[in-house]
Amino acid sequence: MSAFGRSVVAAIAGVALVVGSAAVAAAQGPWVAPPEAKNLKNPVKGIDNAKKLVEINCVSCHGTSGHGDGPAAAALPPPKPANWTSERVQKETDGELFWKISNGRGVMPPWKDMLKENERWAIINYIRTLKGK
Ligand code: HEC
Repeated sequence: MSAFGRSVVAAIAGVALVVGSAAVAAAQGPWVAPPEAKNLKNPVKGIDNAKKLVEINCVSCHGTSGHGDGPAAAALPPPKPANWTSERVQKETDGELFWKISNGRGVMPPWKDMLKENERWAIINYIRTLKGK
């Protein structure tokens, strides 16, 4: 093959690689709550028994300190359990977190039928206490 031919093949392979990884990124892309979720107001003050609820329902994946490193996390395919202490999670509104916790995605379970609304809001208040920790 000519040098020109080889570089064309290399260029095509390069494009295929870029398109391929873009497709993977889209399939696992950022998880965005719908705009109407953003301004939902958290009616709950305080964490009530949220720490306990988290220990029972969430730490297997999200870890005891919320870093996304629970015992089940290693075996899961990406996207991995979110790190609740991270800026990415903490800069979301309570409404967005509420929507995600309620609806789930992939292996993240939908909690709307398993935890009461007040419990889900209290868990968000608890997640706020982990900010930057
Ligand atoms: C079986 C493992 C598993 C359990 C149990 C679990 N999660 Fe998750 N969680 C995940 C995974 C995986 C993601 C990332 C999902 C994605 O990005 O598609 C996630 C994402 C999240 C996010 C989204 C963060 C963001 O903004 O992107 C929140 C909030 C969350 N989980 C809260 C909870 C709460 C609260 C519980 C317990 C009531 C819980 N999770 C239980 C696996 C789990």
